[in-house]
This record gives sequence, C-alpha cells and structure tokens, in this order.
Amino acid sequence: MYNQPMLRDDALKGRTIVITGGGTGLGKAMGTYFLQLGADLVITSRKLTVIEETARELESLTGGKVLAVACDVREYVQVEHVLEEAVRVFGKVDSLINNAAGNFISPTERLSANAFSSIIDIVLKGSVNCTLAFGKHWIKEKQPASILNIVTTYAFTGSAYVVPSACAKGGVLAMTRSLAVEWGKYGIRTNAIAPGPFPTKGAWERLLPGDLAEKFDFKNRVPLKRVGEHQELANLAAFLVSDFSAYINGEVITIDGGEWLQGAGQFNGLEAIPGDMWDMLEQMTRATKGS
Ligand code: HXC
Ligand code: NAP
Repeated sequence: MYNQPMLRDDALKGRTIVITGGGTGLGKAMGTYFLQLGADLVITSRKLTVIEETARELESLTGGKVLAVACDVREYVQVEHVLEEAVRVFGKVDSLINNAAGNFISPTERLSANAFSSIIDIVLKGSVNCTLAFGKHWIKEKQPASILNIVTTYAFTGSAYVVPSACAKGGVLAMTRSLAVEWGKYGIRTNAIAPGPFPTKGAWERLLPGDLAEKFDFKNRVPLKRVGEHQELANLAAFLVSDFSAYINGEVITIDGGEWLQGAGQFNGLEAIPGDMWDMLEQMTRATKGS
C-alpha cells in the first residue's frame, strides 16, 4: 500500500506548484504525483536540457502542464525570473518546494572555503532566495500559499562528513519554524520533510560512491530494514501542500523508517544480541535483586 498514490483524484486541481531541483530524483517524483493530482507544475534547476526533458516526459505521462525554467537558486535575480514566468504562464503560484540541494561526503578539514560555501549557497541561500521572492509576492498579492522545505534528519542531529550540508539544512529548518510563525498571519504555511534514505542517482553518486553503497548499506541502519520508496515521499509532500493539511504549520515530518532514532538510543546496539541469549541475561539481571 505504501507505494500507492494516497490522495483522492483532483486533490491539487487548480494549484500551481514550483519545485526547485524538479528535474531529477525526489523533486521529479513529487512533481509527477502533483501532476497526477491535477496541479500545474513549474520545475527549475541549472540544467535546462534536463528539466525540459523531464517536463516533456511528465506531460506525456500525466497529461498535465509543466513549465521548465532554468535557474540557479543561488542567484536572486534568476529566482525572481522563475516567479515571473510562473505567474505569466499559470496566473499564480500556490506552493513552493525548496528541494534543490548540493552535497558530497568529505572530511571537513579537506574542504576549501569555497567548497563549504558552495553547499551553503545552494541549500541555505538558495532556499532563502526562493522563500523571500515568493513570500514577498504572496504577501503583496494577499494570497494564501504554502512552502515545503526538503531537509534531512541530520538537520537536527548534525552529521560528520557532510558538515556543510548539515549546517545548511539546519538553517533551513530554523527558517521553516521561524516563518511558520511570522507569515502565518498572511495565510502562508511553512513546513518541512526530513527524509531518511531514498535512493536517487544524485544523492547516491555523491554520498555513496563506488562500492560504498554495498559497504554502507542504508537498509541496515533502518529499523524497518528498507529504504524509502519515492511514492511514499510524494504522498507526504502532496498532503503537506494540499488543503488536507491546512492546520499543519511549522512542522518537520520525518520519513525515515526510524533511522535517526536507531542511531540515537543509548541501548539500541543491543539489537545485536541473539534472541536465545536473553534468557541468560534476564537471569543475570534478576540475580542482582537485593544486592
Ligand atoms: C571536496 C569538492 C568536492 C568533493 C566539489 N568540491 N566536490 N571538495 N570533495 N567531492 C569543491 C570544488 O573543488 C570547489 O572548490 C567547490 O567544491 C565547488 O565545486 P564546483 O564543482 O565548482 O561546484 P558546482 O558546479 O556549483 O557543483 C556543486 C556540487 C555538485 C555540490 C559540488 O556536486 C552538484 O552540482 N550537486 C548537485 C546535486 C547534488 O549534490 N545532489 C545530492 C543531494 S543529496 P574549489 O576550492 O576547488 O573552488 C542530499 C541528501 C542527503 O542532500 C541525505 C542522504 C541520505
Ligand atoms: P538530486 O536528484 O541530485 O536533486 C538535487 C537537485 O537540485 C538536482 O535536480 C539539481 O539540478 C538541483 N540543484 C542543485 N544545485 C542547484 C542550484 N544551484 N540551483 C538550482 N537547482 C540546483 O538529489 P535528491 O536525492 O533527489 O535530493 C532532493 C532533495 O532531497 C534534496 O534537498 C536533498 O537534500 C533531499 N534529501 C534526499 C535524500 C535522499 O536519500 N535522496 C535524503 C534526505 C534529503 P541541477 O544540477 O540541474 O541544478
């Protein structure tokens, strides 16, 4: 069931949704489902050929309308151009999904200042640029809207070896909670999704290069012993931009099969104890009574 579409037909009919990084991976998966639910879609990223090809593919798959606009989210002027194009073609924008990201694994001491900045600029500054441009527009037009930020679970735990990304995603999470309060009065809801491992080419090539994917199999880190399916993330995203979540504001919803908590609980490592050892361990702990 979890890899089936969740919302009723036409749940997003009449909505225009902008997805940054919408030509690939999870952005593409969310966009596909939004179109199936009746939304008009705007996808942006730096590579025009990629988003144009995705636009054609999704239009023929769903019969919906997709506008592809090239944009480097680090450049505010380019973000404003996306907004102008979206309004010109579809008349309005109802939701912004800050999904574009850059990331790679590295010991932090190996990073140049520019390498650190490039991730911060894509993830934090890019999300800020989009949020600011679209937010100003919605407030001026007195239009209710929603923002959905795609973060990570290490936005709240931090993580070694992806420190620029952790800093940036932590900042996006802080922005999510701050604006939920500040812009709530304008009818703008701001929420976030923190996905666990959902295999995509973009993430896996940069985070699990070579045979690291086998050596560091994410399934083993997840209590449910599987990685995420794109449709289940798309289901959650569709719910969060739809009116069915009209009272959810400032929330970050984790969808990771319990992964980050498995890494956190002090005694979670006891999972490694074979079932038949527990009789002996129980006897030993019971024997301490009164000692
Ligand atoms: C060290 C590196 C490096 C690496 C690049 N740099 N790769 N340093 N180790 N592996 C350095 C470069 O030398 C340069 O610094 C600086 O970073 C910028 O590199 P450019 O290649 O010029 O940047 P740019 O063309 O803007 O590309 C950005 C990028 C690239 C982030 C480096 O990977 C990219 O385009 N990524 C987009 C897609 C992506 O990353 N998707 C994954 C998201 S997954 P110097 O000093 O030499 O100038 C994700 C999920 C996490 O976020 C959770 C999963 C479970
Ligand atoms: P992905 O396919 O690599 O997606 C990243 C997208 O961002 C690409 O389409 C890329 O397109 C775009 N992008 C990068 N830099 C950009 C820039 N400066 N301006 C505009 N667009 C830019 O990876 P993904 O796995 O689907 O990741 C999507 C989101 O999910 C990210 O926010 C990521 O952090 C998050 N996430 C993923 C996982 C996972 O397991 N996959 C887990 C947790 C969180 P261009 O290169 O064409 O610009």
